[in-house]
Amino acid sequence: MAEAARESGDAELAALPEIDTSKPHSSRMYDYAIGGKNHFAADRAAFAVVAERSPNARTGMRANREFLARATRYLAAEAGIRQFLDIGSGLPATNNVHEVAQADMRDPASVLTDPVVKDILDLSQPTGLMLSAVLHFLVEDDAPRAIIETLLDALPSGSYLVASHATAEHDPETVASGTCVYNQGGIPLQMRDSDVFARLAFDGLDLIPPGVVLVSEWRPDPDDPGPRPAPAEVNAYGGIGRKPSPIRSSRLPGICWISLIRPNC
Ligand SMILES: C[S@@+](CC[C@H](N)C(=O)[O-])C[C@H]1O[C@@H](n2cnc3c(N)ncnc32)[C@H](O)[C@@H]1O
Repeated sequence: MAEAARESGDAELAALPEIDTSKPHSSRMYDYAIGGKNHFAADRAAFAVVAERSPNARTGMRANREFLARATRYLAAEAGIRQFLDIGSGLPATNNVHEVAQADMRDPASVLTDPVVKDILDLSQPTGLMLSAVLHFLVEDDAPRAIIETLLDALPSGSYLVASHATAEHDPETVASGTCVYNQGGIPLQMRDSDVFARLAFDGLDLIPPGVVLVSEWRPDPDDPGPRPAPAEVNAYGGIGRKPSPIRSSRLPGICWISLIRPNC
């Protein structure tokens, strides 16, 4: 580990918990792709193959990171959200203002009971749940919808979910070829079409306009004149949903919906 840290020239990496640097890791591959400094030879080699097979991968990853910035700004500046639970945040950068917990979202209860989460966040207050470019690392056997429901159930109405997800919808062969590199490196990765992603992430939530769109199309910065990348260059969808008050939840059976409006019926 220390040798690998020296190899990257980054002393901060040496302080991270023991990690296997001989194998590629999704967060370090992403970090390398978007111009970060926390990556090792195996990550760079794996991403080089991804980029060879899927030349637009870097463009899509950058567009996703920009979406995440705009979405965060929306929650903080327009929706009044003051606390965020960012799961699969990528590698901590220098001078982060956030605390970092280590928890696998496939065990959402452990995320919610993690001491860092419990001590720092007040989950009885509206929270921004960030699942940016992480849901595609959950395969169907992981029961991703149940994971999301567990997380959302722990948050009050008025909380928001920001989510983005890679897709093969616009460039199936190329993206499938890039996906194989992850899978062969032992990293589960599953593309989903926009309608599947929309149901998976936002069922039961009120979608904030413009809804589920390509990440590059989600409220693009008006000061950035573009041109914006084509769908087959982005290959990722994103959106924001707001948790409604229970009375309007589409997950409630109709009879309960009525009885909530009229308690005596
Ligand atoms: C592509 S990066 C996205 C980083 C950041 N959220 C963004 O959008 O810029 C994917 C992140 O998901 C994390 N990840 C993958 N599977 C995970 C899991 N089961 N639980 C928690 N995080 C996971 C990876 O470690 C990595 O940090």
